[in-house]
Amino acid sequence: MNKILIANWKANPTTPEEALDLFDSYLSAISDFRDIRLVVCSPFLYLEELYKQLQATKNKPETISLGAQDLFWEKSGPYTGEISAEMLKEFAISHVLVGHSDRRYKMGESNEIINKKIKAALEAGITPVLLVGERNLGDDRRAVLEQQLAADLSGLSADQVTKILITYEPVWAISTQPGAKSDTPESALGAIGIIKNFLDSRFQFLASSFLYGGSVNKTNVVDFLKHPEISGAVVGGASLRKEEFTNILKQISLY
Ligand code: PGA
Repeated sequence: MNKILIANWKANPTTPEEALDLFDSYLSAISDFRDIRLVVCSPFLYLEELYKQLQATKNKPETISLGAQDLFWEKSGPYTGEISAEMLKEFAISHVLVGHSDRRYKMGESNEIINKKIKAALEAGITPVLLVGERNLGDDRRAVLEQQLAADLSGLSADQVTKILITYEPVWAISTQPGAKSDTPESALGAIGIIKNFLDSRFQFLASSFLYGGSVNKTNVVDFLKHPEISGAVVGGASLRKEEFTNILKQISLY
């Protein structure tokens, strides 16, 4: 299967040695598998070392590249603690996560901020991976998705929207969520249908594929990714477990 996997390490691991070791396991595994693009979103602090490690291999960016978990929308200036797209470009960052539920709900990131971050990423030539999804099982999913998409994509042209990887991520299915419940491919395809219709009506743009995130693991990865509408996955918890992640890569490659 020709698919993209985005490993979202979140605030893990806690030492550079562990980060290099995990990345090394990806580098060893990826050469064995075809038709997969892997993007590794590590904490900012490890990007430089991982970049050096990646450069020392012959891998092409179409096979494995680094991503960021966040970015700031200004290029530089008095913004204590922030990291700009300009800085990220130093490490050949290909993708950046924007609108992740951790940032929306734990850090209070608004749609307005998400919109600015998407614009900054596009301007810097970094692909935004925009995550949208309802918080609780049973929420009015259509209303949430349409409201997030309308605000997050505000002021963008259809051409710009085609450059964004839109990911459906039901927050209630994220593995570290207390009481997380399993989503089903059928339900995910329903949500993707809502996103697709919204993009078509708002931007006259018939997107054909989307990413999925929310407890993707070795047991369910093929069930989700075998559908042509789902072109890849954002993987959190399972991306930290070397053997399981290698198994996920293998299953996608062999399917
Ligand atoms: P999960 O996380 O794979 O652990 O559910 C996905 C995410 O939050 O990006």
